[in-house]
Formats: sequence, C-alpha cells, structure tokens
Amino acid sequence: MDLQRLLIDRMENRILVGLTMVLASMVLVGWVAINESGRMASFQQQHLARSIEKGAELFSSSCATCHGNSGEGSARAPGLNNPQLFGHDYLAPLDTQIAAVETRIARFETLTATMVDEEARSQLSEEEFAVVQADLAAIIERYGEDPLTSLNGELVTLVTNRANLILQMQSAIDRGYDPEDPSRMNNVGWGSTLEPFVLTTLVSGRPVSTNYWPEPMASWSQTGGGPLREDQLLDLTNYVLNWGHERNWTLEDLLRVQQFAKEPVEGAVQLVENPVATEIIDIQFADVSGRRDEIDEVVARALGEIAELTGDPNNGQSLYNGSLACSACHNLATVAPPTEGTFTRVEDTRLADPNLAAYSAEHYIVESILAPNAYVVEGYPANNMPQNFGERLDAQLLADLLAYLSSQDGEDPLAN
Ligand code: HEC
Ligand code: HEC
Repeated sequence: MDLQRLLIDRMENRILVGLTMVLASMVLVGWVAINESGRMASFQQQHLARSIEKGAELFSSSCATCHGNSGEGSARAPGLNNPQLFGHDYLAPLDTQIAAVETRIARFETLTATMVDEEARSQLSEEEFAVVQADLAAIIERYGEDPLTSLNGELVTLVTNRANLILQMQSAIDRGYDPEDPSRMNNVGWGSTLEPFVLTTLVSGRPVSTNYWPEPMASWSQTGGGPLREDQLLDLTNYVLNWGHERNWTLEDLLRVQQFAKEPVEGAVQLVENPVATEIIDIQFADVSGRRDEIDEVVARALGEIAELTGDPNNGQSLYNGSLACSACHNLATVAPPTEGTFTRVEDTRLADPNLAAYSAEHYIVESILAPNAYVVEGYPANNMPQNFGERLDAQLLADLLAYLSSQDGEDPLAN
C-alpha cells in the first residue's frame, strides 16, 4: 500500500517534472526564436549600414565630381539626392483635398437639382429619396445653410495655396524641375522600382547622354568595361537609395538640388523609351492574379503575328543591350538569369517544369517579356523585371528580341 502510494506520487511527480520541462523548453525555444529574428534583422541592418558606408566612399571618389558632393547635382550631371528621382509629389496632398472639395460641390449640385426637379424626384424610390435627404443634411450640417459658398471658398483657398507652393519652387523650376510632372521614373516610363533603375544605370551607363550632357554617364561595371565590381555597384545603389529612405521631403530639400534630370533632345535614344514600335501591344500585367486567360490570349496573338515576320537578331541584340537595357539586369547573374544560354535553359530546364508542359520555348520567352510575373523564375524576385515592355514593343521588335535570344543556345551557366 505504502509502496503503491509512493509509486503514484513518483509518477505524478514525474509527470509534473516532465510538463515543467516541456514548458521550460517551449519558453526557451520561443525566446531564442524571438531573439534570432531580432538578431537576423540587426545583422541585416548592420550589413546594409556597412554597404551604405562603402557606397558613400565610392561616391565621393567616383561620382561627386559630376553629381555633387552630397548628390545635389552640377552642370555635369543631375542631382540624385533629389525628390524628383524618388518621385516625391509636393502637390499631391493639396490635389487630393481639391479633388475631394470638387466632388463634394458636384454632389451638392446634383442633390439640390434632384430636390427641385419634380420629375427627377418622383422617379426616386423612398429609400433613394431618404439617401438624398440624408446626404444633403450632412453637407448642410458641415458647411452651414449656404454650402456652395463655403465649399467654393474652401476651393479658392486650396487652389491659392497650391499656386503659392508652386511659386516657392520657382528657383527649382528655373533649373528644370516640373512640379506637375515630378517623377523621374514616370518621365522615362520605367515600369519597375528605383533600385533596378539605379543599378541598371550604373551597369550599362547612358552612352547616348552625351547628346544632352557635356559628358556621358559611363558604364561603371567591369562587365561593361568599367572599373567597379558587382558588390561595389550594389554598395553605391544602397547609398543612393538611402537618400530617400523614409524621408519626409521638404521644400528646402528640393531647393538644394542644383540640377534636375534633362529630357533627351530629339534624335537621342532614350534609355527606356519605346524604340520604334509602330503598333504597340499595349498591355501590362504587373498584377497577374486572375488574368491567366487574358495573358494566354495576348501571348498567343503576339506569337501568331511573330510567325508571319522575320526576326532580326542584330536589331534584337542592339535593343537588348541598348535602348531596352535588358542586358543591364541579365548580364549580372545575381540580378537576373544570365543572357548566355537563355535558349538552352528555357528548353532544358524551364520547359521541364510540369506547369509549363504545354509551352514552346518561344511561348515561354514571349510570356517572360510581356508578363514577367506570370512565371517567376525560382531564386529571383517577382516585380523586378519591368512590367511594361508590352507598352513599348510591337510584334516586330518582339520577333527581333526572340531571334536574338534564340541565338543564345550555348551552355547555360546556371545548369549544374
Ligand atoms: C562624367 C560625369 C559623371 C560621373 C563621374 C558619374 N555620372 Fe552619373 N550621370 C551623369 C550624367 C550626365 C547622367 C544623366 C544621363 C541621362 O540623363 O541620360 C547621369 C545619370 C546618373 C543616374 C541616373 C539619374 C537619372 O535621373 O536618370 C544615376 C543613378 C547615376 N548617374 C549615378 C552615378 C554614380 C553612382 C556615379 C559614380 C559611380 C556616377 N553616376 C558618376 C554623369 C556622370
Ligand atoms: C530590372 C531588371 C530586368 C530588366 C531590365 C529585364 N529583366 Fe528579364 N528578368 C529579370 C528578372 C529578375 C527575371 C527573373 C524573375 C522573373 O521570372 O521575372 C527575368 C526573367 C527574364 C526571362 C526568363 C529567363 C529564364 O531564365 O527563365 C526572360 C526571357 C527575360 N527576363 C527577358 C528580358 C528581356 C528581353 C528584357 C528586355 C526587353 C528584360 N528581360 C529586361 C530582370 C530584368
């Protein structure tokens, strides 16, 4: 009896001890996990901070002569520490308010018109009429007995503030800034984010910028004959992007910029402008969800048109390396799948994916260009390849690109 009690006691104890251990280890694991993600984040932050520091040094030795010591720009190159490059729109908050007041005025006018028009009123159901009355009451409560006068007064104030804000930007405007069209990315039709834009510029340079700048922006990449390694280009990119990181751009920031970007003069090839497309495909698929059928249809139509044409691989190559700047990303395997061996890779690796069972190599390549997010290559991020080539290409240019990529049928450096 005593022995049995003892045993049971022991058992209970064991269970208790066991449970405590389990709990303790859960707490420990949880604590480690929490700390681990904290450590990861702080490790990544330190890594980024070091990269930015290295970028800063490279910038003062290689870039400051043209872009200014603190990225303010000079007669030789545009400012990079620059709200225009980051697409900050100073007028946007006022524009939103103005649009809201305008909508309210229009709504008030429709409502009062309905109230005085017997015929219109008689066509409303009881519920609809109640909504009209409630809306009117709400506007009158907010703006008083004469809402139109108050609303128009508000509109005048906002429009005046907007005009004054533009006046304060005058010296920047004199240096080439356009407050109504404030985003460099939009101006050049870049369909991706700023990071690949900066990196692309560093890798491929802007050979044609000599048409509108005293000296061209050269390629800085060793792959393009320049002096800098890939990691150094990434450091520089991190440094430049850090100028806009969570920045509350002020008017002073704008006025400090000495030089804004210039639009290429006529005759110069733009970096990302539509080259000579005649009938552009005019579609983009940044958001691909639920659009499978539409993508298939557009790609099938493009393939049908391409089949009637002869692609020129030489033109394809110059588009790829020149005005479309595909090579800027595709020459660095860390940024995008390398150009070399593309066709081999598509045939041997991509088409082996069961999801692509029904694809031909041409189908895959055309879809990759028109709807890059439809099939994102493993190991690379979605959204980095510009999504708007469909708005810049026609069937002939696509045929040329396809002819060039079809010639990349040597060994695939990614194959192991
Ligand atoms: C010889 C002068 C010169 C030097 C040195 C130079 N750049 Fe440039 N850079 C330019 C010019 C000119 C442009 C404008 C090209 C254009 O508009 O097409 C430019 C454009 C750029 C742009 C794109 C800006 C935009 O709005 O399109 C970036 C980013 C850039 N440079 C970064 C750098 C970095 C980083 C360095 C140092 C490694 C550097 N540049 C060195 C002349 C220079
Ligand atoms: C800003 C960088 C960037 C530019 C510019 C760019 N691409 Fe890409 N591209 C990528 C990335 C990243 C991927 C892989 C991720 C994905 O599938 O979208 C990719 C994937 C591809 C693929 C699939 C390759 C494979 O191995 O499966 C093709 C083909 C392609 N791009 C063609 C082009 C062409 C043609 C152009 C120019 C008209 C171009 N890209 C411009 C970044 C870029």
